Parts: sequence; structure tokens; C-alpha cells
Amino acid sequence: MPVLTQTARSDPAFAYALRRVTEAAARAAFDWIGRGDKIEADLAGVDAMRRAFDDLPARGVVVIGEGQKDQAPELYKGEELGDPAAALQFDIAVDPVEGTSYLAKGMTNAMAVIAMAPRGTLFDPGPAFYMEKFAGPSEVRGKIDPEAPVADKLAMLGKALGRRVSDLTVYVLEKPRHKELVARIYAAGARVALYPAGDVAGALMAAIPDSGIDALIGTGGTPEGVISACAIRLLGGEFLGRLDPQLPSEIVAVREAGLDTRRWYAADELVRSNEAYFCATGITTGLLFEGVERTRSGERTQTLMISGPGGERQILTTWHPRSTVH
Ligand code: FBP
Repeated sequence: MPVLTQTARSDPAFAYALRRVTEAAARAAFDWIGRGDKIEADLAGVDAMRRAFDDLPARGVVVIGEGQKDQAPELYKGEELGDPAAALQFDIAVDPVEGTSYLAKGMTNAMAVIAMAPRGTLFDPGPAFYMEKFAGPSEVRGKIDPEAPVADKLAMLGKALGRRVSDLTVYVLEKPRHKELVARIYAAGARVALYPAGDVAGALMAAIPDSGIDALIGTGGTPEGVISACAIRLLGGEFLGRLDPQLPSEIVAVREAGLDTRRWYAADELVRSNEAYFCATGITTGLLFEGVERTRSGERTQTLMISGPGGERQILTTWHPRSTVH
């Protein structure tokens, strides 16, 4: 590929090369679908992602690695990847298997994800594992008060989209902590799409027009939040996030680190550059794209790539010849 230099905007040619990193992770994790072992699945994805990154004409430092919360194997925070002499220097946020439990149970919606932005521009959440999130379409950018009652947020969303609240669908992770939130969404008259895992997919769908999902609301992983913010910044949608520690040890660590849990961050504070990239490859078939398919002649993957001014997004189907199947 041509030599690329750091510019003010991301380059679709680099996103095209970057997709090999998530393709590699997805193909490696494929063998672990439905085997009840999320640690091995994650490890396979991590190893493949690490190796594939070395073929890129870029240097990256992992700012957000995967697995701290679950003590799963990870591309650890601070790890440097790629070519030290490369002109392109990035912060990286990775989730080699987003939805490890989906994958281990053989369910839909597991994907391999990477988000990158120039060095020093990705938000570092420190010891915070959980984040409260609101994601929505471009029509509500700057119009949502994250502290407002959910009924008010939905009213604003409906107004901005020219639709009745009863026609809106909100993606929410199905967790005990969201019982009251779900009750309030029902009371406001909107639909709820409840998923046991996978809020990157939910956030992306909220920002992508006509996806069937109009907003994502609720608390999920902080890594997934920063990754989603990267994609949504490029797409031009709305993303707001607030550190929302849930685990007792996390609450203490966040307090000791002096992090402000009252502050809401917008997408452009979580990702402070337009020269950002997002790639996600399906492992199991999900709402956004299909998973890895292995046939006698090789493997087929689908990857969502987002880059460039105006958040150009493409879903690329790639056939990998049999000789490249591990
Ligand atoms: P994993 O990739 O770690 O399995 O994360 C899946 C996920 O559902 C994320 O999409 C979400 O942000 C997070 O877990 C929520 O965490 P928890 O299941 O602990 O509430």
C-alpha cells in the first residue's frame, strides 16, 4: 500500500489495510464458537490481532486493552504494536472478541473490533470498567441532556427524527442494573430491544440511520464505550459517556484515581481527532454483518470499516483462500 502520513482526516486506504487485523482475530476466534470457553476464544483473537498488526505501516500503543474486567487475556495497556519507525503513530482501543459470552454459547452478534486515533487523542479511562452511555443518530447531536429523565430523552429523539415515541426502539443490555431503566422506557411508550451482551453493536446501530435501533441507553463496558465513540464520531452521530463504576474494587480504584464520575464526555472528548478509524469483523452473524463462514474452499468474512471525512462506511465481504485457513 502507498506510504501514508498523519493528516487531519482518516484515509479509507488505511482502513482497508486495518481490516486485516479484525479479520485475523475473527477467523482465529471462529474455532471457539459454541465451545463454552470464552478465555480461549479471547486468547485466539488476541494472538491473531497482535500478529496482524505487525504487518501494518503503523505504530500503535494500546490505550484500551480487552479483558481487564474479566481478567481475560489481553493486549495489555501500554503495549506497543507495529513498526516503530512508521510515520503513522496511533492510540489503539481493541476488543478482539466483543461478546465473548455470545461466542462461547454459539450465539449471534460476536465480533472482533479495533478503533484507532492519532497518538494522545483517545480517552484513557484508567481503572474504570463501566460507563453509562447514550448513543443516537446525528439528528440529536448536542440536543440530549444526559441527566434528563429517559422520557425526556425519548421525547427529544422523537422530535428530532419526526417520529412518535411509540415508534422508537431503544437497545438496552439485559442486566439487573437496567430493570428500572427498562420500566421507564416502557412507561414512556417506546420499544426496548434487550440483548444479553454486545453494546458496541447497539451503539453503532443507534447512530446508523434506518438500522431499526434509534438509541442505546444504559451502562456497559468502558472499553466498548470508547470504541463506540470512535465509530460514532466518524459517523457523525451522538455519543455521551459517563464513568459508572459497578464493582466494589472498581469504585475504590476510580475514586483513588481521582476520576470524576459525574462528568459526561461527548464523542469528541473521548476521541479528540477526526483522523480516527474503526473496523469490526463478524465472528458469529449479528445485526450489522455476517460472521465467519468456513467452507471447503476457504473462509468468508464481513467487515464494517468506518473512516474518512463524513464517516464513509463500507461492509466488505472477503473470501480468504483455503491456503490461509489455519
Ligand atoms: P465481552 O466482550 O467482555 O464479553 O463484553 C460484552 C459486553 O456485553 C459488552 O458489549 C458490554 O459493554 C459489556 O459486556 C457489559 O459488561 P457486563 O456484561 O459485565 O455488564
